[in-house]
Amino acid sequence: MKRKIYWILTAFLFVISCREQATDTTQKKIATGVLAKNGVVVTAHPLATQVGIDILKKGGNAFDAAIAVQYALAVVLPKAGNIGGGGFLVYRKSDGETGSLDFREKAPSAANKDMYLDGEGNPISDLSKRGHLAAGVPGTVAGMDETYAKFGSLPFKQLMQPSIDLADQGFLLTEYDASLLNRFQDAFKEVNNGSIYLNKETPFAESDSIYHKDLAKTLSLIRDNRRDGFYKGETALLIEKEMQKGGGIITQEDLANYEATWRAPIEVNFKDGYKIISMPPSSSGGVALAQLMLGSANYDFKAMGLNTAKSIHVMTELQRRVYADRATHLGDMDFYDVPLAMLLDDTYLSERYGTISLDSATSSQEIKAGEVTTIESFETTHFSIVDKEGNAVSVTTTLNSYFGCKVLVEGAGFFLNNEMDDFSVKPGVPNQFGLVGAEANAIQPGKRMLSSMTPTIVEKEGKLFMVVGTPGGSTIITNVYQVILNVVEHGLPIQEAVNAKKIHSQWLPDQIIVEKGINSLTLDTLRTIGHEIREIEQIGRIEAILVREDGMLEGAADITRTGDATAMGY
Ligand code: GLY
Repeated sequence: MKRKIYWILTAFLFVISCREQATDTTQKKIATGVLAKNGVVVTAHPLATQVGIDILKKGGNAFDAAIAVQYALAVVLPKAGNIGGGGFLVYRKSDGETGSLDFREKAPSAANKDMYLDGEGNPISDLSKRGHLAAGVPGTVAGMDETYAKFGSLPFKQLMQPSIDLADQGFLLTEYDASLLNRFQDAFKEVNNGSIYLNKETPFAESDSIYHKDLAKTLSLIRDNRRDGFYKGETALLIEKEMQKGGGIITQEDLANYEATWRAPIEVNFKDGYKIISMPPSSSGGVALAQLMLGSANYDFKAMGLNTAKSIHVMTELQRRVYADRATHLGDMDFYDVPLAMLLDDTYLSERYGTISLDSATSSQEIKAGEVTTIESFETTHFSIVDKEGNAVSVTTTLNSYFGCKVLVEGAGFFLNNEMDDFSVKPGVPNQFGLVGAEANAIQPGKRMLSSMTPTIVEKEGKLFMVVGTPGGSTIITNVYQVILNVVEHGLPIQEAVNAKKIHSQWLPDQIIVEKGINSLTLDTLRTIGHEIREIEQIGRIEAILVREDGMLEGAADITRTGDATAMGY
């Protein structure tokens, strides 16, 4: 009887996948990204991309451009670009040297593991997400300073000046910039105990001029004093004062002690000559991506077809196992003995993936228990840069939620992150991305909270092939994974790979999130074999660069999803 059901189901999946492919062949128009010979910059904002390209044209290298772009994003994209947050940088130099920099925020020295729990040990709603106590010690300025010290070539002042000019002399809002500022008007007032300079009587509109005068002053302090312009003196004092106003705990000492950390990247080979180079903990991104790629090596995704029931099912089954590992084993390596070797070990992975059936969904409860119901939020920002020498930089950076904890440091003009919510505030209790964690990611003073950011570089036959990353909270890892599969397995041009509809699953909640637009027949088939489906508008916003076979660079900004993603080259 079981065998009969098996053959009926298999025949059903085969018929469905033929019909899915028949539908897909109607989509003929091939999108192409921006082509250039000497350098490409892809960011979430046209003004930041322009700043990066200008630096490359002036002879700066990819690291110089990354520093200038990071500071420009702090001005033009205050919802995620930042000096009050943190992030990760993965690089591959033209000579093949690879590395990564961890400038993730750290828990302040007065933090403790129960700081967001009430007397009964339950999380206090929003305490880790909104307001002063949600902020970790920012890492971005230290990260950029380290990057400059190791790789900078142009004068530091030259890298800082474009962002200072944008903040001081103003720029025109895009429609999307305006809509975000309008959306958070009430939150700005509530959290900051009254209006801030970004509160306005009438709504912001496209082409309104905006000035960030206090931020220009802070950036000038960084220009003139490097990291001390932020972690010491006036800016540090303003941060501490701001903390004291709202029950926050970051001190001047926490700031002075912050250091970014160089780490060996996670590197794994995939199929015929590809190598994936990505971010190690304190991000979960590189380990999870590596586990997904190693698991995917056992499947022929090309034969299964793009976004068919079969390929979505297999990706989901891999993902649920990987995210269960993430929740259990990953945390800041400086504080917790992350079993990296085990997580990437062939035998371990074969056992883990050996239970995948092509015909039915595994219940996530069978993989490991937990309770998560929703995933609410998809923020952060990513940029990719390749210079004329072939140096590549992949940076993902964040305040966590839009405008972080919504606290604007008075007198200094920048928002602080709410990254503390990325810790496991209580084992098994989901954060805003629905992610659960355990001891590995418990709060400790000076520890970094686990991230999903996945700045990644791919080599093909020992040469630079792709630079890729995206915002999107917990969906970052699976989005980067799919773009790589789309190119390497499905043979899509990079812009098509970016534009293609994405899916996401993460162990808990036990469901597949799919972007609207995926074939309804496919979704029905997935339901038939036991998957719960949730359709949403958008997953992530990839910013990628591909080195084509003819040697040209192709910048693929995600222009099909909400936002102002822009690729430029020269
Ligand atoms: N705050 C989002 C992340 O780091 O994954």
